[in-house]
Amino acid sequence: MAELNLILLGPPGAGKGTQGERLTADGGLEYVVTGNILRAAVKEGTELGVQAKAYMDAGDLVPDELVIGLILERVRSEEAHDGFVLDGFPRNVAQGEALDAALAELGRDLTGVLYFDVPDEEIVRRLSGRRVSQTGRIYHVEFDPPKADGVCDVDGSPLIQRDDDKPETIRKRLAVYHEQTEPLVAYYEQRGLLHRFDGTKPPQEVEAHLRKTVSTLRLEDAV
Ligand code: AP5
Repeated sequence: MAELNLILLGPPGAGKGTQGERLTADGGLEYVVTGNILRAAVKEGTELGVQAKAYMDAGDLVPDELVIGLILERVRSEEAHDGFVLDGFPRNVAQGEALDAALAELGRDLTGVLYFDVPDEEIVRRLSGRRVSQTGRIYHVEFDPPKADGVCDVDGSPLIQRDDDKPETIRKRLAVYHEQTEPLVAYYEQRGLLHRFDGTKPPQEVEAHLRKTVSTLRLEDAV
């Protein structure tokens, strides 16, 4: 089967995690969720976590020197041999260039960049209603509620609100996105790698569109 190397790109709260979980549920692709890796490091109190925490709490990007090596290690790992889905990386052009260099060294290519377009006002609504389980499973109090209030459907753990989902931090994350991450849209569009999705559609509709695109990419890659 052809290798599938994908990036999920979009503003905070665009649905990258929601769709990434669905896309990788069958376990065929290595799913690398930068935010979850960093949050786990913060929780465990590792050196990375201690350094990353202040940036994350403020809604800023964690410095490249802490993030790039960490994620490229996963890209180079045995688990990513048949393909990967990167969620939350790259987040600026320097990270995009570092990924390009690493893939060139490995003799591999990016298959596509899946970009979720969602306006700022919708992002604020989504992030203020987001709740997550201990393992990072994502819900929304209004758009995707759990079966029992405040409890994860899968493992029964209590749902919590992320520290950076407070209104003032959401606004900061959006500003950082527009300034530092959005230039990646043009970066990948120029290379014909960008596939746009209307992220304001219901999750099932976004998923259907996404699966159709990924199937086409798989076929194109196989020929
Ligand atoms: P990270 O965890 O990556 O956060 P993010 O990119 O801001 O993305 P989110 O997880 O907030 O949103 P999402 O797009 O996954 O949306 P979701 O599916 O949850 O990063 C956190 C921090 O880590 C950063 O601020 C930074 O400090 C640091 N960091 C991470 N990567 C870094 C990097 N590469 N370099 C440096 N620093 C880095 O959906 C949101 C909500 O909407 C949910 O409640 C969901 O149920 C709901 N929803 C989803 N889809 C729909 C839909 N179609 N309709 C209605 N509701 C929907």
